[in-house]
Amino acid sequence: MAFKQTILCIGAGYVGGPTMSMIAKNCPDTQVIVVDLNEARIKAWQSETLPIYEPGLREVVDEAIGRNLFFSTDVIANIPKADIIFVSVNTPTKTYGQGAGRAADLQYWEAVARTIKEHATSDTIVVEKSTLPVRTAEAIERILHASQNGVHFDVLSNPEFLAEGTAIHDLENPDRVLIGGREDEQGQKAIQTLVDIYAEWVPREKILTTNVWSAELSKLTANAFLAQRISSINAISALCEATEADVDEVAHAIGTDSRIGPKFLRSSVGFGGSCFKKDILNLVYLCEHYGLTEVAAYWEQVVLMNEYQMNRFVDKIVSGLFNTLVNKRIALFGFAFKANTGDTRESPAITVTRRLLEERANVVISDPQAIPEAKHDLADVIDHVEFSEDPYEAAKGAHAVCIMTEWEQFKDLDYQRIYDAMLKPASIFDGRNILDHAALGEIGFNVYPVGKHAIVNG
Ligand SMILES: NC(=O)c1ccc[n+]([C@@H]2O[C@H](COP(=O)([O-])OP(=O)(O)OC[C@H]3O[C@@H](n4cnc5c(N)ncnc54)[C@H](O)[C@@H]3O)[C@@H](O)[C@H]2O)c1
Repeated sequence: MAFKQTILCIGAGYVGGPTMSMIAKNCPDTQVIVVDLNEARIKAWQSETLPIYEPGLREVVDEAIGRNLFFSTDVIANIPKADIIFVSVNTPTKTYGQGAGRAADLQYWEAVARTIKEHATSDTIVVEKSTLPVRTAEAIERILHASQNGVHFDVLSNPEFLAEGTAIHDLENPDRVLIGGREDEQGQKAIQTLVDIYAEWVPREKILTTNVWSAELSKLTANAFLAQRISSINAISALCEATEADVDEVAHAIGTDSRIGPKFLRSSVGFGGSCFKKDILNLVYLCEHYGLTEVAAYWEQVVLMNEYQMNRFVDKIVSGLFNTLVNKRIALFGFAFKANTGDTRESPAITVTRRLLEERANVVISDPQAIPEAKHDLADVIDHVEFSEDPYEAAKGAHAVCIMTEWEQFKDLDYQRIYDAMLKPASIFDGRNILDHAALGEIGFNVYPVGKHAIVNG
């Protein structure tokens, strides 16, 4: 079949894979090729076991793969075929040199831009899908236009707002799609090409078009606001514990105010995921770069509050277990940074595990999806950690259970059975406030939620 156009996506990760599968599903007359240097990842996309766990993803991939969706490791050979190239490579926090610990590391992005420049043979639209600092498009344009071969490139910013765990739902019914481009005629034409793709399944009024800098900055701002809400309610949770207020009651009471709204007001051990911390630190770095010291300090506090909350959680475990954890078995229920994903990047469970090990506890980790990732994250201390898919096994002989991820299945466990198999006094530290605390107290547990009074039986 002759395709109307060809889209290439460079980077087959959590964003590139699902977004391109959704485009392929909804635009059957467009060829979509997803490439990555990581051979194992590409093989997994072509196999029965996809490289990432995401509810509903299998069905979307199955509908399009082999029809108009293809995965490949050959980046260079596919560039000349593409009318549009999405770049969805990783943009981690820089760990070296200027801006280390804050700025985005753009080495992968720049390498890709140079490869595109070298191998494109006709005019091409290049789409920033990765989250990038504001004004990156300018640098990318300069690199691309250094080409001598007469090829013209239009650079668009199309940041991705999907949330892991609900990626397929978010891609199918996005709150909005954001496309930023140059304001000249050529830029507007490029924007329209991308609008037409999304309009195959997204209502036109939900497709927002802006200038390229606004689109770039909107993504960083969205993540900063979302993380800020979590840090705000977590700050209040500390005050609740000191005053016998209940954080869920406070969240409900303020969330009914339509100006505030109820979402993202759940207190917890802290936020994780590959994006929030990195994007805020990137925002902080940008503010500092532009001399906006107060603005930088304001946003940095969101990250500091998150660290405070994780440390507070561990402090509570130490004091709840009589100020020593030496040789005590502590079962962590959940390691993924949130439910319905196997992703553990920046998961609070990593910080908590490492601190528990420092206290010389014996840590056992149970998670329905993330044990392979957990083993990878803890490779340097693997001899000191146990893993068990079965939470009942993990809790056997433990002094404490800690809820680290809000997996549905943890709500439905037989906690009487768990209690019977634990050492006494048996404690539960509910880092996600998902359990029935009163019922646990009835069984005999000491219960330590977040932002609520503890129940201490013994
Ligand atoms: N994960 C999310 O929920 C999410 C949501 C919105 C935006 N983002 C942003 O999207 C971007 C990608 O995130 P991700 O989670 O998909 O990352 P990821 O690490 O899962 O995937 C990136 C992929 O790019 C590949 N890659 C790197 N350099 C390459 C090159 N030169 N050629 C070919 N492939 C190359 C890597 O091998 C990797 O598989 C980041 O900027 C991130 O901030 C992520």
